[in-house]
Amino acid sequence: MNMAGIILGALALIGSAAGAAAPVPKGAAAPATRGAAAAPLTGGAATYAKWCAPCHAPGVAHPGTNALAAKYKGEKPAVLLEWRDLTPDYVKYMVRNGISVMPRFRKTEIGDKELDALAAWMVQQQHK
Ligand code: HEC
Repeated sequence: MNMAGIILGALALIGSAAGAAAPVPKGAAAPATRGAAAAPLTGGAATYAKWCAPCHAPGVAHPGTNALAAKYKGEKPAVLLEWRDLTPDYVKYMVRNGISVMPRFRKTEIGDKELDALAAWMVQQQHK
């Protein structure tokens, strides 16, 4: 064996030893899948998650949250579910009529009964 071969062999050994020293923990990806089996949302919570959360969930990536931050400048929370003065009638009016860039929702999208449940659920969230 020439010198280069010996060095390469030694490097390979070091490499494999280093690899063995940092094993990838088994099940490392498990937390990401946790909760996948949780019960699906129902009633107003499900309607909110489907139609409202994409725009009103916390975080600047959500246009509704962004718009409410700009509109009320801290006077009211940017996150709609943190408001304390929502009433069912107000929620229903906004949903059926829309406001600014928020679209109105048709009865084929959110039926009257669904809207009642949604408004009740949203108002209930304020008193938690
Ligand atoms: C496409 C994004 C979008 C969706 C989807 C959306 N909203 Fe909005 N919403 C907005 C924006 C933007 C505003 C702020 C409008 C403005 O600047 O006046 C807003 C404002 C509101 C307001 C407060 C209006 C005010 O200023 O007093 C309510 C209440 C509301 N939305 C309810 C809902 C409900 C309930 C749903 C689900 C059925 C929903 N929104 C879905 C974008 C959205």
